Amino acid sequence: MNITIVGTGYVGLVTGACFSEMGSHVTCVDVDKTKIENLKNGILPIYEPGLENLVIQNCKEGLLHFTTDLAEASQSSNIFFIAVGTPPGEDGSADLKYVLGVASEIGQNIDKYSVIVDKSTVPVGTADKVRATIQKELEIRGKDVEFDVVSNPEFLKEGAAVEDFLKPDRIVVGADSQKAAKIMQRLYAPFSRNRDKLIFMNVRDAEMTKYTANAMLATKISFMNEIANICEYLGVDVENVRKGIGSDRRIGYSFIYPGCGYGGSCFPKDVKALIRTSRDTGFEPELLASVEKRNMIQKKAMIEKVVRRFGTNLSGMTFAIWGLSFKPGTDDMREAPSVVVINSLIEMGATIHAYDPVAMEQARKEFPENLFSTKKIELFNSPYDALDNCDAMILVTEWKAFRQLRFSIMVEKMKQKVIFDGRNLYDPEEARENGFEYHGVGREL
Ligand code: UGA
Repeated sequence: MNITIVGTGYVGLVTGACFSEMGSHVTCVDVDKTKIENLKNGILPIYEPGLENLVIQNCKEGLLHFTTDLAEASQSSNIFFIAVGTPPGEDGSADLKYVLGVASEIGQNIDKYSVIVDKSTVPVGTADKVRATIQKELEIRGKDVEFDVVSNPEFLKEGAAVEDFLKPDRIVVGADSQKAAKIMQRLYAPFSRNRDKLIFMNVRDAEMTKYTANAMLATKISFMNEIANICEYLGVDVENVRKGIGSDRRIGYSFIYPGCGYGGSCFPKDVKALIRTSRDTGFEPELLASVEKRNMIQKKAMIEKVVRRFGTNLSGMTFAIWGLSFKPGTDDMREAPSVVVINSLIEMGATIHAYDPVAMEQARKEFPENLFSTKKIELFNSPYDALDNCDAMILVTEWKAFRQLRFSIMVEKMKQKVIFDGRNLYDPEEARENGFEYHGVGREL
């Protein structure tokens, strides 16, 4: 199969690399020349476990190609994946300018039956817009080319993207024609050998499925964060409650970890977009609006605890921040709680010592240069170096390397022995036995 994938971000690049790994010929297209040149040389724009290997290997085997020229790619291809960004607009709606831009270009280039697959997360009704855009271009060219638009949302998680793609729980395909559905079935056959993982439905249902999955997971997190807050006022440890309810198979253990709120490029954007879509239909989504609101408040949960402990004037104080990426396993800092925490602390006059196993470069881009030059934020090469002379350590992202605390080093390095554990990674009793004051999420006020 010859596939063209437009967009070499997380979704596009992983999709391209994984299809080529399963033997398809894949051409990845992007407008960013530097990105494409780098990819040709095996330099990836993102950190994702296992991805670099797949890209380099499949390029070598001649199965994976990179180009900036969609026209060239479309000569040999009749399956086009649209995997470009859908940034949130001012009102929370997903901005479709890139998706429809690619649709135009596809319409300008196809000459034979083609399947156009929406892989980006796009609101219900987008496939209709993609179809109309392609049709318009074909009419301008005076061409009568048959094509189908399919919705095939992606469910991969950052940090486990390759594994999620190669071993998916399910593959949702929204297709309004048998011909397109058959092609999608053949394309995904290598991923579905042990059991049939394909779930077919119509295009709009597939579009909605993606938003519903992310909204459901975000709801679980916000629900648990709300419970954590109630627990604090009741003197209950939410960690015991979490274990107690997770053991009910109907609830399950996943996505019920309280913390500093959900971040990343997906949940915040998708929940907002679904709220927008819903309001556009005239329906007020009360629950989703609360999920979003709880998350915004939750990102400041650690700050509230800092203020309760140290007051609002933090000048002269230094805080160590462990973990900058929005979750472990990625260098992505989009909507990361760490950004809210760091900005709030700096606003109150504090100085920041930060460490992250992979997101340090990203952090340099995330904050204004003057914060680094004035040493308001300093980046350190090890979590323990970051503790030097600190009044407190705040754990924001639960990287594995942070799981075991080396208390003896901490005692030596820190000015005050205070831990704010934003992910409930530590045992409060053990921390206290080692002379530390401990503040977690949903454990006490
Ligand atoms: C999420 C979904 O999990 C994927 O299925 C989906 O494909 C993807 O969005 C997408 O739409 O592209 P991702 O954003 O990579 O994936 O990250 P998650 O692992 O879902 O974590 C999201 C956020 O929730 C993180 O900030 C994490 O710290 C937080 N979280 C997660 C919690 O606070 N508690 C939990 O129990 C679980």
